[in-house]
Parts: sequence; structure tokens; C-alpha cells
Amino acid sequence: MAGNRTFTMIKPTAVKNGHTGAILAMINAGGFRIVAMKKLQLTPELAGQFYAVHKERPFYGELVEFMSSGPIIAAIVEKDNAVEDYRTLIGATNPAEAAEGTIRKKYATSIGENAVHGSDSDENAAIEGSFFFSAAEMF
Ligand code: RTP
Ligand code: MG
Repeated sequence: MAGNRTFTMIKPTAVKNGHTGAILAMINAGGFRIVAMKKLQLTPELAGQFYAVHKERPFYGELVEFMSSGPIIAAIVEKDNAVEDYRTLIGATNPAEAAEGTIRKKYATSIGENAVHGSDSDENAAIEGSFFFSAAEMF
């Protein structure tokens, strides 16, 4: 059965450009409830740990540098079928391929600086959520 929580980040450029409120509004309008949320800046070490799965990819260094370049919003959100529905709401990794009305279509500036992160499986949603939040911070 599909899980009902996923993990997301609003990435540095989107935060810096003042899109946090509009993106959170789209998340709410998409039927997601906020379970946990915080604003923080990742160190390069933490960003590297978070994206360790991409360590061998050519864009890893750039990704770590970008994700630690400014504050982000980290959040756990809840809805039936959360992982799949959230990835539909955010759109394709490359904003040039993202569907109309998706968060990335609206707010991503490039494939690297693509506005938001969304977990890709229930298992990773739980791992990524616990990376940022303790059980006492989830409501
Ligand atoms: P995310 O993990 O951030 O939700 O993105 P995703 O699943 O749609 O894409 P993924 O393959 O997991 O890639 C993680 C992030 O790496 C950056 N990326 N850059 N320059 C490139 O070709 C490239 N490809 C991926 C993006 O920021 C992507 O979100
Ligand atoms: Mg991914």
C-alpha cells in the first residue's frame, strides 16, 4: 500500500527569490498537510550526505555546492499516495519538460536549480524525513 507522507525541500534559489509562500500555497492547494517544517542552511557535508545516492553522478559536486549555498525549507507533507502525487505536483526534474501548472514549471530556473525536492519512494521519504526531523517535531 502506498504511504501517506513524503519529504520535500524548497531549494536555495526559490527561497532566495521569495517564492516560499507561493510554493507552500501550491502544496496546500494540492491537498497536502504540513506534518513538520523548518528553515535552515545545509553545510556542504550535510548536503553531501543527503544526496550520497548521487555521489557517482557527474553533477554531484555542483548539486552539493548549490544545496548548501543558502537557506532551504525542509518539510514532511501528508496526503494519500503522497510520494507519487507530490512528484506529479512538482513536475519533471528538468523544468523544460515539466507540465503546465506544476511547481517546477512555475519556479524552477534550470535542471540543477529546480525549485523543489520530492522523495522518490516511501522508503526514501521516511529516511529523508528522519534526516531533518525527530519524532517529536512531526505532528
Ligand atoms: P529531487 O531528488 O531533487 O527531487 O529531483 P529528482 O528526483 O527529480 O531528480 P534526481 O535524479 O534525484 O536528481 C537530484 C537533483 O540533482 C540535480 N540534477 N542535476 N545537471 C543535471 O543534469 C542534473 N540532473 C539532476 C537536480 O537538482 C535534481 O533535482
Ligand atoms: Mg530524486
